Amino acid sequence: MNIEGKHYRTVWVSKDGKSVEIIDQTKLPFKFEVLTLDSAQKVATAIQEMWVRGAPLIGVVAAYGMALGMQQDPSDKNLQSSYDLLIKTRPTAINLKWALDRMMESLKDAPEQTRRDIAWELAGKLADEDVELCEQIGLHGVEIIREIASKKPAGSVVNILTHCNAGWLATVDWGTALSPIYKAHEEGIRIHVWVDETRPRNQGGLTAFELGSHGVPHTLIADNAGGHLMQHGEVDLCIVGTDRTTTQGDVCNKIGTYLKALAAYDNQIPFYVALPSPTIDWTLKDGKTIPIEQRNGAEQSHVYGINPEGELSWVNTAPAGTTCGNYAFDVTPAKYITGLITERGVCAANEPALTNMFADLKNSVI
Ligand code: MRU
Repeated sequence: MNIEGKHYRTVWVSKDGKSVEIIDQTKLPFKFEVLTLDSAQKVATAIQEMWVRGAPLIGVVAAYGMALGMQQDPSDKNLQSSYDLLIKTRPTAINLKWALDRMMESLKDAPEQTRRDIAWELAGKLADEDVELCEQIGLHGVEIIREIASKKPAGSVVNILTHCNAGWLATVDWGTALSPIYKAHEEGIRIHVWVDETRPRNQGGLTAFELGSHGVPHTLIADNAGGHLMQHGEVDLCIVGTDRTTTQGDVCNKIGTYLKALAAYDNQIPFYVALPSPTIDWTLKDGKTIPIEQRNGAEQSHVYGINPEGELSWVNTAPAGTTCGNYAFDVTPAKYITGLITERGVCAANEPALTNMFADLKNSVI
């Protein structure tokens, strides 16, 4: 997608083919800075410190981390230690394990001297695949928005609420929840997006930045405003992303998603979750068993922003010494989900529907 009219992906191979470049998401939406990652260790830091974030992007960048690891040292020992280093960077998004397992599967039996090339090629393929899957999500999801628009009085706006950032910055390109929104906007459907701020890390700022760059009308709101807007008929549908989806259709997404789903349910507002299939964990049924990342309390007691002098600053909002809880994700049970928007189409959030749509993938895991 574009920043100031120039097309970017969120990760790309540098000109010399020996490192990868990423957009530093800790500086957005205030500053656009590109960082170079030239080792598996640097990739691990980038994921852990959230220079890159969003489930699909974490997976792809980790795959490049394996390629960098194999470039450094293609031995069996380093193959395993690169995997071990990267897998423990963030616990919730299953895309990380999915991508690392795919890399490991292709590399483990390959001769050492071939591993570097195999790894770079496969990581590039996973990046391209992600773009394709996310664009397909957009094409399927836009049908829902089109349908809602067709039932509203001519010329009225479709109001969509989203939480966190599940846009192109969270993937390689297009995004998951925002992909149908971009497609609807391209198609000329009149839309407006309610963007949840998404404390504590304010990923809503990333969503506002993306939508603004593409001319999509939007309003940034406090996390607690959604229920009020739903009660007053200001939301036609919700679309969010997911970091892990279970076989029974429970989804684990950014903290606060569950409360939005409850409010949508109470107000009979459709609540959709957009996901590429690598986000499905075929080994888990009950969402309550998903490991929930707990991050540093300083992210809760502080906010990051830009002061009038244009300097990035980190401001304390809590009394000194306050104990902070920083739960990064929550689980929305399938019963509150109207449908899952996948690269193969829209299905119900339940086991038979997911199995029917992805039987080949399910069988390849079990
Ligand atoms: O902690 P983050 O910013 O990595 O969390 C991201 C989200 O929760 C997204 O909604 C999720 O990864 C789906 S994105 C395509």
